[in-house]
Amino acid sequence: MMAEVGDADVEDVRQKTLRELHAQFFEMVPIRRMKWKSEVTESSELGPDVQRLVLQATVTSPLCQKYPPCLTYQKTFMKQFLHLLERFDVEICDEVYEQYTELLSQEEEEDDTLCYKTYQLPCGSPVSLQESVHLISQGTTGLSTWQAAQHLAEWSFENSHIYENRTVLELGSGLGLTGISICKQCKPTQYHFTDCHPQVIFLLAKNIELNLADGKSFLTSQHSPSRKKDVSIMKKIRRQLSLNAEAMINELGDIVEVCMSPTTPPPGEQEGIIQELLNDLADFELSTGVWNRDSELPYGTLKKDPRVSLSKLDWGQPNQELLSRLSADIILGADLVYDASIISDLVPLLKSLLTHQTLSTAPAPVAYVACTVRSEDIRDHFLYSLGKEDLKYEVVAPPCERIFHYDRSVPIEIVKIYA
Ligand SMILES: C[S@@+](CC[C@H](N)C(=O)[O-])C[C@H]1O[C@@H](n2cnc3c(N)ncnc32)[C@H](O)[C@@H]1O
Repeated sequence: MMAEVGDADVEDVRQKTLRELHAQFFEMVPIRRMKWKSEVTESSELGPDVQRLVLQATVTSPLCQKYPPCLTYQKTFMKQFLHLLERFDVEICDEVYEQYTELLSQEEEEDDTLCYKTYQLPCGSPVSLQESVHLISQGTTGLSTWQAAQHLAEWSFENSHIYENRTVLELGSGLGLTGISICKQCKPTQYHFTDCHPQVIFLLAKNIELNLADGKSFLTSQHSPSRKKDVSIMKKIRRQLSLNAEAMINELGDIVEVCMSPTTPPPGEQEGIIQELLNDLADFELSTGVWNRDSELPYGTLKKDPRVSLSKLDWGQPNQELLSRLSADIILGADLVYDASIISDLVPLLKSLLTHQTLSTAPAPVAYVACTVRSEDIRDHFLYSLGKEDLKYEVVAPPCERIFHYDRSVPIEIVKIYA
């Protein structure tokens, strides 16, 4: 005989379902892929009380005020919620209609192109990141968080022992999800974030400040000149992204991939804005209120947590002095091998980082690179290039537990590389 589901069990399932909904909403999971309910939550349970709880877990949650997902996404979510309730033919409470109408009355800003995504870590701590709603923008892939970054973070949570008493260097950090999650959940002795694209570095710095330095500078020092400059740069990034947007979000809240070649000349209207932004970013420096900046190198450490550093590192033109500063036990990278053209810069850099002289007592450095296998040819070319440099590699076991809600249809492999 089947065991009866008691009130306490139902309550547990309801809480779990709401937590899942909350996590998916703030990660901005495409509505089409969103899991709304568990098998146990039936239409009879979608009464007015549960509807209010759904609102509280999503659009009326305090997190939505503080770090809102983009407005179009919120509207699409509410529209889908109403469809669901109508389909189940349940009584819809006034708050749901009111909230939807309120959202519809809000005008989308022309430059609603940067938004917050929040990822919940197993330790209970959230990571909120400012991201572009476009996957590829400004010829860089670094203004959104990619699946491989989430996969590498999930793998790190299950292998956190490898970070104990170890220093980490991350290549192509993008917006920082992997590194910020590892700093919060795994506690390495030092974590070096790096990237080379000016806009990525700017947003990465803001995301690190937000999550690892209590949001200092950007959110609190309202009237400082550096905050004014940050706000102005942020506006220009938004404006520039919106000018480039061909399509942003389709009917079901899918983020539509906008492909731009880095070599495509920008149309007339964009040139001025792009140039202005590049000028602003050229002299952008880490805020001295939050960072201890190196006087010689493009490198700074967080005042609040000197374990954390950020620097500009271009794989094609690595500054040797900077490289020795960044020497680490573990080298990480997520979705670095997305294009065959970057392999010739990346692999020699990995070789140099994995073979630098360490104390004879220290363990030899190891790299873990999470590769999204969109093309087997590119993956094979990467592995072949590693072999040519006399580097050894093996694919490690994937993480077992699903923490984040990314699309898992394309395989991701974590390649362990060593000399
Ligand atoms: C596909 S994104 C991945 C970003 C992040 N790791 C993630 O998975 O979300 C690739 C990143 O590599 C950076 N990148 C590309 N070429 C680079 C180079 N030559 N030197 C340093 N970073 C580079 C880009 O700026 C971008 O942030």
